Amino acid sequence: MRHLAIIMDGNGRWAKARRKPRLAGHRAGADALDRVMRYCKDAGIEYLTVYAFSTENWKRSKTEVSGLMKLLSSFMKSKRDELVGQGVRFMVIGRRDDLSTKLQKEIASLEEATKNGRFTLAVALSYGGRDEIVRAAAKFKGGGEKEFSDCLDTAGIPDPELIIRTSGELRLSNFLLWQAAYSEFYFTDVLWPDFSKEDFDMALASFSKRERRMGGRAKR
Ligand code: IPE
Ligand code: IPE
Ligand code: MG
Repeated sequence: MRHLAIIMDGNGRWAKARRKPRLAGHRAGADALDRVMRYCKDAGIEYLTVYAFSTENWKRSKTEVSGLMKLLSSFMKSKRDELVGQGVRFMVIGRRDDLSTKLQKEIASLEEATKNGRFTLAVALSYGGRDEIVRAAAKFKGGGEKEFSDCLDTAGIPDPELIIRTSGELRLSNFLLWQAAYSEFYFTDVLWPDFSKEDFDMALASFSKRERRMGGRAKR
């Protein structure tokens, strides 16, 4: 598998179960991401795309939204050396114009500092699949599916073979609509901050048993 995508869901419920503020759940979620990134590298995966904030998540309370943005900013600061040292290419997909100028600058700076990394961590931020397709359509100068894909934020990245969603929700919530055309799905009730190496291994084991026909005939 070259590309794994994850809908990191359940931070709020994780916090609620512990009688902590939602933001504590998001902080634990950031730690989970840090761990899972290592599992991916060890498993030989080249691209990890994670859903961190959707175009719909702006509807949440001001406190939660600003807390999430601060968390991202401190994640980028505290992980900078580690990302550079470990050869991680950091990138953001989504409507980055929606973000504060300060955050946009921090993102651009980290993207530049990590641009030679061999492992790609793509963070979907103010991201919506439909929004991405609409923006791509405005850029599209004609051609076929390949040319259209090149207008998406994920240009140059292969489609995800597997999409994991945690916390028991069975939907895509506007994530990678175009890219998910032939992705396999793995759903687990585990809340994102609790997602462990065992859970990761189970998802990959499930994927490896799938027969991906992509519309063709089963190989015998
Ligand atoms: C996912 O956790 C992270 C974001 C959407 C930012 P949630 O915040 O959606 O957690 P639940 O679904 O309320 O448990
Ligand atoms: C999707 O989760 C977005 C992220 C995980 C960042 P949500 O919690 O926002 O999705 P819904 O509202 O349950 O569909
Ligand atoms: Mg949720």
